[in-house]
Amino acid sequence: MDSQSLQTLEQGLLGEIVAAASLEDLEKVRISALGKKGRVSELMQQLGKMEPDARKAFGQAVNTVKAKVAGALDERKAELQALALEARLQTERADISLPVRPGPAAEGRIHPVAQVMDELAEIFADMGFSIAEGPDIETDDYNFTKLNIPAEHPARQDQDTFYLQPDANGDRLVLRTHTSPVQIRTMLKQKPPIRIIAPGRVYRGDSDQTHTPMFHQIEALVIDEATHMGHLKWTIEEMCRAFFETDVKMRLRSSFFPFTEPSAEIDIAADGIGKPGEWLEVGGCGMVHPNVLRNCGIDPEKYQGFAFGMGIDRMAMLKYGIPDLREFFNADLRWLKHYGFSVLDVPGLAGGLSS
Ligand code: DAH
Repeated sequence: MDSQSLQTLEQGLLGEIVAAASLEDLEKVRISALGKKGRVSELMQQLGKMEPDARKAFGQAVNTVKAKVAGALDERKAELQALALEARLQTERADISLPVRPGPAAEGRIHPVAQVMDELAEIFADMGFSIAEGPDIETDDYNFTKLNIPAEHPARQDQDTFYLQPDANGDRLVLRTHTSPVQIRTMLKQKPPIRIIAPGRVYRGDSDQTHTPMFHQIEALVIDEATHMGHLKWTIEEMCRAFFETDVKMRLRSSFFPFTEPSAEIDIAADGIGKPGEWLEVGGCGMVHPNVLRNCGIDPEKYQGFAFGMGIDRMAMLKYGIPDLREFFNADLRWLKHYGFSVLDVPGLAGGLSS
């Protein structure tokens, strides 16, 4: 092939490329030019039969054509893709102001426990806490011993523990009776300052109108170099104010927990929920016991902190006026429709936690 026809071929191909009106057409042109049996590829195959000098010149010429054609193909492809996207954007408009169509997304409800967990996570995130987790099946060591509750300690009898078979290391396993072992897990792997919350399921062999064998708690832990009871009280008060979206009266009543010293019970005035004059216990709190810090390799001479644990179900009952705890776990759709929350109603501090 002479250079004249090579140029004609090049012009022809470039013309076809520009004329291609769709990505499919363009792909056809590509195959017919650069594919295995394409017009340019076939020229390359002629090289073998040529004299060395002619081969070099012709080879270069064909390569130039090939490069131009490839460049033009890329360019047109980008153009056609942009046009295709533009066309889709014109036709596929999403009107996010439309109400949800009837169907599962509109029917579905967020369970009050999940809602309260989301609300609390939102409140604590705003105060700079992050979320920590631990497993439901916990070692006896983390659930009790490292929390300063040694074997034979009477506090073990307070909680009707579900014991499981020991694990492969022979460690006794339990269904965690509280979220406090997440404190241990956090302190073992994270250096102070620490500021976490840990919401989750807990288990105790107990069942009546206000107790179920599985329920939910939220744990909080703060460890730093100058943390004191004032910080603890402020944090709980702020949390209550944000959570109940009103000024609730709260009091700390002196108490005992093996993992805190001093310890207190958290009570909330029930005026707001139609029980004037009554105090309702929602959880326990205190300054982390030096033994617990030591068990986790933290120097109690340098660091101290506070912790608290609260019943999430209890807080949901208080805030949303739900009388019977057992109903929470009956999977009754009528109940869920009544007490549940819209999937689209995501709690946020700015718009009100529960609109
Ligand atoms: N773990 C305790 C319980 O389930 C509650 C509790 C009390 C948690 C005091 C704490 C705390 O973090 O400091 O009864």
